[in-house]
Amino acid sequence: MEGGLKLKNPVAVNQELEGEVFYPSPEVVKEARIKDWKAVDELAVRDLEGFWAKEAEELDWYRKWDKVLDDSQKPFFKWFTGAKTNIIHNCLDRYQKTARQNKLALIWVGEPGDVRTYSYFGLNREVNQFANVLKAMGVKKGDRVTIYMPRIPEIVIAMLASAKIGAVHSVVYGGFSVDALQGRIDDSESRVVITADGGWMNGKVVELKKTVDEAVKRCPTVETVIVVKRTRQDVKMEAGRDYWYSDLMKLPIANGKCQTEVMDAEDPLYILYTSGTTGKPKAVVHVHGGYMVGIYSTLKNVFDLQDQDRWWCAADPGWVTGHSYIVYGPLLAGATSFMYEGAPTYPYPNRWWSLVEKYGISVLYTAPTAIRGLMRFGESWPNRHDLSSLRLLGSVGEPINPEAWKWYYRVIGKDKCPVMDTWWQTETGMFMVTPTPVVPLKPGSATRPYFGIEAEVVDEQGNPTPDDQEGYLVLTRPWPAMLRTIYKDPDRYVRQYWSKYPGKYLTGDSAKRDKDGYFWIIGRTDDVIKVSGYRLGTAEVESALVSHPAVAEAAAIGLPHEIKGQAIHAYCILRAGHSPSPELAEELRQHVGTHMGPIARPEQITFVDKLPKTRSGKIMRRVLKARAQGLPEGDVTTLEE
Ligand code: PRX
Repeated sequence: MEGGLKLKNPVAVNQELEGEVFYPSPEVVKEARIKDWKAVDELAVRDLEGFWAKEAEELDWYRKWDKVLDDSQKPFFKWFTGAKTNIIHNCLDRYQKTARQNKLALIWVGEPGDVRTYSYFGLNREVNQFANVLKAMGVKKGDRVTIYMPRIPEIVIAMLASAKIGAVHSVVYGGFSVDALQGRIDDSESRVVITADGGWMNGKVVELKKTVDEAVKRCPTVETVIVVKRTRQDVKMEAGRDYWYSDLMKLPIANGKCQTEVMDAEDPLYILYTSGTTGKPKAVVHVHGGYMVGIYSTLKNVFDLQDQDRWWCAADPGWVTGHSYIVYGPLLAGATSFMYEGAPTYPYPNRWWSLVEKYGISVLYTAPTAIRGLMRFGESWPNRHDLSSLRLLGSVGEPINPEAWKWYYRVIGKDKCPVMDTWWQTETGMFMVTPTPVVPLKPGSATRPYFGIEAEVVDEQGNPTPDDQEGYLVLTRPWPAMLRTIYKDPDRYVRQYWSKYPGKYLTGDSAKRDKDGYFWIIGRTDDVIKVSGYRLGTAEVESALVSHPAVAEAAAIGLPHEIKGQAIHAYCILRAGHSPSPELAEELRQHVGTHMGPIARPEQITFVDKLPKTRSGKIMRRVLKARAQGLPEGDVTTLEE
């Protein structure tokens, strides 16, 4: 750790590890901010609050905390209680009038090839202006603002401006469609929606405004829609409701500084909808103080960001990865961040590699599905480019298979860039199980819990499983970036995460721990499907299917897929008067796509007469999954006749 923490010895980890292990090179160890990973970890475990207080002290606070961790109302943990801050103060305000204001905060490339850059000064100006606009629109502290946008700089500006005035943003991924958007706007009761006329993806325009128009028809709370001009498509603008972003930013009200709202450390920063075990997606709540400390600490220590770095987190700002590590984390670290609007293979499969070369990207963070997708095109595409600027790689979103890990390491990282496989969740806000650059790596393992994080693998009864035996992954100590609750549903927060094993946070994942203490994530144990790293719930897909007049009942499951990790397979019982046909199957696939978004479109639809159910009528997806894969069906004693 810089300054404070004393390091016992400057050696990484000297123990012999089992299996295939990639040790950091002496150059990596020499460059690393934290050389003795174990020493820092031991300190953090021994003095959890001390560790986090030290991390927090590297940031600015309007008022310091009275207490680092307040666990008096657990599982409603509070962090940095009594402190006053605003994440925007640390992302932007504190850099003004320092040399950093002249540094690039964001380099952005559009799919058609247009480029925009923002210095810390320039980004701050835009955020101030848009914050003024939001205020003029009547948005106040605590109000929710829905953001539904393509991957363009204005999505970052909209999020930051909302946080600056103390509003709570609710970003809905631009790949979602009408029903998903409408449900999320409705639940959040947003009065303002920020969108664009479209975005570029694979050479085509994604018509976001059209989707907003459809969704808003059914959302009585929405008064204002702000539209960024991106594709210059013809879109319908409703007088008195819809305004062009560019027009608003030119108004005198947009001018000048906007005061950053002073927030309690525990005041909400954003809500983010995510799919859970049952029913409709629910929003997790993240706050200004602890969340800021958690993502700052992890980004700094895991990716070891330095002033000269050019960081590219290739996720979408609409997911938690983008919130934490495109929008907020890099700014907290004072880094230069790169963002690209479009598809990795457009117009050719070398697009990403040409961007790495052209912009000198030094750290690339992406998902296994993207790596597998690009791997498919062969080595000649990356080999055409000089990728020597890269020094670290990262992976997130789903387990990375060792073949993809090694391809990434060898072909992209040229055998010199450690791969940081970071395991975490929308709920955790920050990396939880992850290496740092000096930790020896085993392909396919996210390695060890981050400093101060304690994870366990337990059996049904909550007892730790023996080495290498699969069980439920749980977290046994609180962490600052943890979700505080589920928006409007605190009971569900307790039920879903803290009830199976009292005092332990249930992740919903299954995992194994090996004899070296390395964690191997296997996958979800609940009804969450990870398609290309995107998190979807079986319930959402099923309700989209039964909204079609031909479908009486539906069940959706995730089955292994070579590129996507998992793909959705759906089983449908038809209503009387409808008969199975390939045309109907295709129609249903499209129907799900139109309602939820293209990512939710099932890979395959199978028509059935019956679904396996328990006697109480619950669909046994586990049995469907086993049957589809020709695996043993397990315990079927509860199966109805
Ligand atoms: O199953 C785990 C998987 O993604 C889930 C969380 O999804 P979401 O909330 O959308 O957040 C994704 C980005 C943080 C986890 O429960 N997952 C995430 N990262 C990994 C992973 N599985 C294995 N290895 C990872 N590195």
